Amino acid sequence: MKELIASAPGKFYFFGEHAAVYGIKSIAFAIDQRMYCTVKERSDKKVILNFPDLGVSGWQYDGKLQSRETAFVTATINRLSARAKISGVELTTKSEMKAGFGTSSSSVVAAIGALNELFGLGLSKEEIFRTGYQAVIDVQGTGSGYDIACATYGGMIEYVKGNVPKPIPYPKNIPLVVGYTGIKADTVKLVKQVAALKEKHPEHVRHIFSQIEKIVNGGEKALAENDVDALGELMNQNHGLLVELNVSSPELEKLIAASNGAGAIGAKLSGAGGGDCMLALAPGKTKEVSEAIKSAGGTPFPGIVGEGLRVEKK
Ligand code: PMV
Repeated sequence: MKELIASAPGKFYFFGEHAAVYGIKSIAFAIDQRMYCTVKERSDKKVILNFPDLGVSGWQYDGKLQSRETAFVTATINRLSARAKISGVELTTKSEMKAGFGTSSSSVVAAIGALNELFGLGLSKEEIFRTGYQAVIDVQGTGSGYDIACATYGGMIEYVKGNVPKPIPYPKNIPLVVGYTGIKADTVKLVKQVAALKEKHPEHVRHIFSQIEKIVNGGEKALAENDVDALGELMNQNHGLLVELNVSSPELEKLIAASNGAGAIGAKLSGAGGGDCMLALAPGKTKEVSEAIKSAGGTPFPGIVGEGLRVEKK
């Protein structure tokens, strides 16, 4: 029986979250922590799903988007089934990252990558990205697709919602520290909250978005030129605008203040806000900033840029 493994990385927004939902360009990157998906042929026609990290074992795929745990991979198989019959396979995911790092989107992309290989579907990178994005929309109804873009393409990407992601140049060894608050962000709720703010104060929010757009452009230039000081300043500015959008939280602010106090030259929340993670840029001070994040109640990780989807073993 044929068996293989594909893996896809988690992600973080560098610049442009929330504005990205409204079609503004953003910059995000894949991290070096991954989701692994093993697929194994079966002698019967069943499709069996195991997600041991989520307490799911021996789940028989039935095409229904029921529990949150099984919905993402189920939606993925539904979408792939439009292309080829997916049957007689057992699929098992294993994550090396925390929830909030992109576990759902990386499981979608790793599953597409593994099934693409096992069933010889011949999907291109762009088709993998588009199929994954459709699966995410099937489950949560909203989202820019940047997480699927990072999981598929890897590296640092420039992304406009719905368009093909564009890999952009970035310096090796960016001195980034990630701080995890331990609180799960409610992305859908925060996206709705920003939509409500935009409804109430359209001019104000439009102005914030146009400032974010300038920051994204500046960020792209600073990354290409390895201008660390400019990157730090742009991170601070972007965070200030996210605070104005009212998506930060006391826990994020605490980790950001601790990072700044320990010598970070830039810090911002990353993603929806309300919890999950923040990023700090700390040239020569990554150790001090990591320790400060830990003392402030967070969990620090090195923010290392990682590779996109890959097939591990044939
Ligand atoms: O919650 P996360 O880390 O997936 O980030 C969501 C970021 C938003 O811009 C609010 C939504 C999106 O899909 O881009």
